[in-house]
Amino acid sequence: MSDTIVQIQALTKVYEGKQRVTALDGVDLEVKQGEIFGLLGPNGAGKTTTIGICTTRTLPTSGQVKIAGIDVVGHPAQARRLIGVVPQYNTLDRSLTIFENIYFHCRYFGFSHALAKARSEELLEQFLLSERSKALPSQLSGGLAQRVQIARAIAHRPTVLFLDEPSAGLDPQSRIAMWTAVQGLRKDGITVVLTTHYMEEADELSDRVAVVDHGKLLALGTPQELKDAYGAQTIIHLKLRQAEGGEAVAQEMRQLKGVENAEVTGEGLRVFAGNVDGLLPAIIQTSSRLGLRDISITEPSLETVFIHLTGRDLRE
Ligand SMILES: Nc1ncnc2c1ncn2[C@@H]1O[C@H](COP(=O)(O)OP(=O)(O)OP(=O)(O)O)[C@@H](O)[C@H]1O
Ligand SMILES: [Mg+2]
Repeated sequence: MSDTIVQIQALTKVYEGKQRVTALDGVDLEVKQGEIFGLLGPNGAGKTTTIGICTTRTLPTSGQVKIAGIDVVGHPAQARRLIGVVPQYNTLDRSLTIFENIYFHCRYFGFSHALAKARSEELLEQFLLSERSKALPSQLSGGLAQRVQIARAIAHRPTVLFLDEPSAGLDPQSRIAMWTAVQGLRKDGITVVLTTHYMEEADELSDRVAVVDHGKLLALGTPQELKDAYGAQTIIHLKLRQAEGGEAVAQEMRQLKGVENAEVTGEGLRVFAGNVDGLLPAIIQTSSRLGLRDISITEPSLETVFIHLTGRDLRE
């Protein structure tokens, strides 16, 4: 047995409709036993499609996904026993209490009444939800509802848990509580695959990160490896009043000492600098003739890796 839990090979997905959309365009990935693996990409990158295929909800157009050696298309029922899913949107049953949501999930996976009850109580305790066991999902904050979704998703003791945008819409405090809950899964030996828009989240939680955009894998490595390889640059964002002449100014910027690249954006310019020492006055002076409206700086981080790779801000 290898220690590969998720094996994605040459995966493609084309949605046929009024418009053909290539959501995945030949993705290869392996997630190892015990890893917390981050899929980082902007809107429409193909993250949910990847998770949908891995969790048997979406059929691939070509290529293959194996979960602990089981082909998800060939043996979906078998694969589903190995998988837990927290989808991008809340799917708790609103007519059931928190306890019942977890209890019936266990029953669905073949637990006896006694085992399902014991497992539900154990999870409510583990996720600090015991006091709310009789509450309905509508009575919970977003952060608590998300914790219930995670508890329910691991109730049948899956090998791997897929979390699609686990902190979308959560306030910062709930997000940190969710991170703690996910990190706590390590001690149960559960492998985790999560998608995110948040740099700090990918950085904080993931052992390895795959950067995806337009259905393609752009980079893969530990957060540190990615920063070392692509992100050792500070990015200076300039908002300019005048768009015309941007390319000429970018050209001048590239000549400045410390500047590695400069490119025109929708709002003005983006300057990639290896060394910003003493550079800002020159940048401000060079851009002033196009009417400098605003300047902001992104320090080297996974975010600069992302901008470097995709030419886009995640938040755009
Ligand atoms: N059921 C569908 N039918 C047609 N096109 C789809 C469908 N689902 C997704 N798409 C398209 O496929 C592409 C990838 O979508 P996907 O939802 O996988 O991206 P994502 O990375 O999860 O995005 P987000 O960050 O917005 O959740 C997008 O262009 C999307 O519009
Ligand atoms: Mg999505």
